[in-house]
Amino acid sequence: MQCFNKSMALLFFLGFCSPRSIIAQPSSVPVVPPPKFNPNFWIISTMQRVESSSNTSIGQGDTTFLPVLHNSGFSYGTYFGFYTMDSHSFILVIALSGPQGPIVWSANPDNPVSPSAILTFTAEGDLLLQDSGTFIWSTATKNKSVAGMRLDLSGNLVLFDQNSSLVWQSFDHPTDTLVMGQSLCSGTKLRAKLSSQKWSSSRFYLSAELNGLRHYFEPAAYTQLFQSTATSTPTKSSACYAFANGSFGFPDKIFSLPSASSLQFMRLESDGHLRLYEMQEQNSPRMLLDVLSTVVAFCDYPLACGDYGVCNSGQCSCPSFSTFRFQNERLPGSGCIPLSGISCEHAHDHKLIPLNNISYFSHSSFSKLAASGYSEYDCKQSCLMNCSCQMIHQISFQHL
Ligand SMILES: *[C@@H]1O[C@H](CO)[C@@H](O)[C@H](O)[C@H]1NC(C)=O
Ligand SMILES: *[C@@H]1O[C@H](CO)[C@@H](O)[C@H](O)[C@H]1NC(C)=O
Ligand SMILES: *[C@@H]1O[C@H](CO)[C@@H](O)[C@H](O)[C@H]1NC(C)=O
Ligand SMILES: *[C@@H]1O[C@H](CO)[C@@H](O)[C@H](O)[C@H]1NC(C)=O
Ligand SMILES: *[C@@H]1O[C@H](CO)[C@@H](O)[C@H](O)[C@H]1NC(C)=O
Ligand SMILES: *[C@@H]1O[C@H](CO)[C@@H](O)[C@H](O)[C@H]1NC(C)=O
Repeated sequence: MQCFNKSMALLFFLGFCSPRSIIAQPSSVPVVPPPKFNPNFWIISTMQRVESSSNTSIGQGDTTFLPVLHNSGFSYGTYFGFYTMDSHSFILVIALSGPQGPIVWSANPDNPVSPSAILTFTAEGDLLLQDSGTFIWSTATKNKSVAGMRLDLSGNLVLFDQNSSLVWQSFDHPTDTLVMGQSLCSGTKLRAKLSSQKWSSSRFYLSAELNGLRHYFEPAAYTQLFQSTATSTPTKSSACYAFANGSFGFPDKIFSLPSASSLQFMRLESDGHLRLYEMQEQNSPRMLLDVLSTVVAFCDYPLACGDYGVCNSGQCSCPSFSTFRFQNERLPGSGCIPLSGISCEHAHDHKLIPLNNISYFSHSSFSKLAASGYSEYDCKQSCLMNCSCQMIHQISFQHL
């Protein structure tokens, strides 16, 4: 275990201690020499890089990692530091090592910083990220008696006090991933990334609520609540759902998971799926389970077949191949695009393509907008006259 100890840093200021002894890096890991005279600062442009081509690669593709802290176990290690895919914008992350080392936490996923950004472990005990003097992120632990920080092998960054009691931990602020041993508590949620390439947040969430775990997709009012089979106790004021060996939702069991032979993590991904992975020696983490698959069918995911896609028995197609084509022939799930663009010109040439016998994942959002009493013809005409209308949804009620 590696610690960055503030009391030792103070000793250094008094001249009793050399800066290298403050960060005891294992020799196999590139040492990050703290900038001279101030071991509490890490300036991105002066930090040593770990390229993905080396054997300690982290992340996917053409990535670079700049470690601040490192901890190594038998088969994998954990890193806390900066991550970049383009050498211009950096994200402060915690990653598990390996050829496809997954990022399990990030401080500023929506707000990447420039190479001149500075991470400071302040004398007041705050861990603070600033870019050109602008505040980006902090642990907000100023004056909370923080004595040091450490990175646990599970990928938890911990700020502790003199009694080694926990003051702040990254586990309490999940991004898109939970590591085995971590809990999702009410008031927090997992947010999927928009795509595996983009770091800006997507619109899929998994949030902890008093009565269960809620999966939702924001723009279209899609929501699903997963509850434990045990009778819930409505009197509680907060709830935590732990990711334990063999289950998610502990002490209740909401999802059963395969038992762990190594560290597991689960990530809410850009397609809305929550996938369980396990670290393996030397290799990329192995995908073990699509966690929601027992309750959410493939076609029930809002983005199952992408834009304009139609899903049927796990297969994606387009509403009509005379007017649409696949975005990518080899990836039918990536959606469809109209053969001709929809514009406001030539509105009289527009027509509506009927789609029978389908259901829409966000039926309720249409029900709210529904205007009753119009004939099908009136409804179609008003849509054709309005260039922001691309779809009408007809709900017919059967009178029993
Ligand atoms: C890096 O990986 C290659 C192939 O996987 C191996 O041959 C080489 O010895 C490794 N280098 C180090 C320094 O571990
Ligand atoms: C932190 O403590 C210092 C010194 O005791 C004090 O001057 C400062 O106002 C405190 N800051 C906060 C945010 O409480
Ligand atoms: C550490 O523990 C001692 C004894 O229990 C207590 O008096 C002190 O306030 C604690 N320090 C912090 C920073 O919590
Ligand atoms: C998970 O539990 C199983 C049995 O319940 C045990 O064999 C295994 O070692 C545990 N895994 C970890 C990583 O603790
Ligand atoms: C509508 O879809 C369901 C399920 O896909 C199918 O069983 C049924 O035959 C379809 N009905 C019509 C009229 O196409
Ligand atoms: C056109 O359609 C949009 C959305 O479908 C609707 O909000 C708007 O009120 C419509 N405009 C007119 C003039 O009907």
